[in-house]
Amino acid sequence: MNTINEDIRQANLTLILGGTGKTGRRVAQRLTARGVPVRIGSRSGIPPFDWEDQTTWAPLLRNAASVYVTYYPDLAFPGAADRVRSFAQLAVKNGVRRLVLLSGRNEEGALLGEQAVRDSGAEWTIVRSSFMNQNFSEGFWLEPVLGGEFAFPAGDVAEPFIDVEDIADIAVAALTEDRHVGQVYEVTGPRLLTFADVVGEIARATGRAIRYVPISMEQYASALSEAGLPTDEVKAYIALFTEVLDGRGAYLADGVRRALGRAPRDFSDYTRDTAATGVWGVEEWV
Ligand SMILES: NC(=O)c1ccc[n+]([C@@H]2O[C@H](COP(=O)([O-])OP(=O)(O)OC[C@H]3O[C@@H](n4cnc5c(N)ncnc54)[C@H](OP(=O)(O)O)[C@@H]3O)[C@@H](O)[C@H]2O)c1
Repeated sequence: MNTINEDIRQANLTLILGGTGKTGRRVAQRLTARGVPVRIGSRSGIPPFDWEDQTTWAPLLRNAASVYVTYYPDLAFPGAADRVRSFAQLAVKNGVRRLVLLSGRNEEGALLGEQAVRDSGAEWTIVRSSFMNQNFSEGFWLEPVLGGEFAFPAGDVAEPFIDVEDIADIAVAALTEDRHVGQVYEVTGPRLLTFADVVGEIARATGRAIRYVPISMEQYASALSEAGLPTDEVKAYIALFTEVLDGRGAYLADGVRRALGRAPRDFSDYTRDTAATGVWGVEEWV
C-alpha cells in the first residue's frame, strides 16, 4: 500500500511527451535523478500516447501536474496547432497546472502552437529552438553523415545550431522553478554555422571525409520520396524548409543565458562528445 507521501508524490508527476526523443529523454533523466516522478508519453510508452489518436491522451494525464509538450513530427505540419490546442485544453481539464512547450523559430505553425498553449489557462513557458545539433547524431541527418555525403537544400544559409543538452536544462528549470512562467526563451547556440561548416566540423572530429552538397528543394523532395516518405509528409517538410531556410534564422538569440545564466554549449563540444560515443563510427575510421 502507498504511504501518504507516496500518494502525494504520484499525484504530482510530470508527463513528458516525446519522452524517448532527443530532448524528452534527457528531460526525463534529469527529473528522475532529482526524484521527480515522470511518465513518458510516446507510442512505445505504457500506456501508449499517439498525437494522431486522441483516445490515447486522457489516460496519460492522470495525476499529472506538469507536461513537457513536444509535438511530432513538427509544429509546422498541418493540423499540429489544433492538436496541441486540444491536448492543452484536455490537460488543464484534467488538473495539469503547467505546460512547457518546445517550439520552433520563425515559423507560422510554431506560433500557432505557442498560442494554443498560452490560451490554455495553464502556467506556460515556451522554448523556441533553432535547429538542433543532435539531428546529426540522433535524428534523420545521421544517415547522410554516415553515408559521407550530406545533400540538403540549405545553400550557404547559416544557422545557430543548439545543443539539446541546453534545451533539456531549460525545460527542467521551467518545469521545476516558478520564475520561468510566462517566458518565451528563443534559444540558439553561440555561433552561426553553414551546413558546410557543420559537415566540416563533424569530418574533423571523426577524421573522416564527409561533404556537403547543396541541392534544390525539388531535388530534396525527390530524394525524400525515393526514401519512402509519404507525399503529404514530403510536402510538409518542403514547406517547412522553404520557410525556415531562407536566411531568416541566421542570427543569435540569448534564451539560454536568460533562462540558465550561462552561455550555450558550442558545436565543437557537441562534435567532441558525440565522436567519443562512436555513433559516427569514429573508431573504425581513425
Ligand atoms: N529537431 C530540431 O532541430 C527542432 C528544432 C526546433 C523545433 N523542433 C520541434 O521539436 C519537436 C520535436 O522534434 P524533435 O526533432 O526533437 O523530435 P524528437 O523529440 O526526437 O521525436 C521523437 C519522439 O517523438 C515520439 N513520437 C513519434 N511519433 C509520435 C506520435 N505520432 N505520437 C506521439 N509521439 C510520437 C517518439 O517516440 P515513439 O516513436 O515511441 O512514439 C519520440 O519520443 C517538434 O515539434 C519540432 O517542431 C525541433
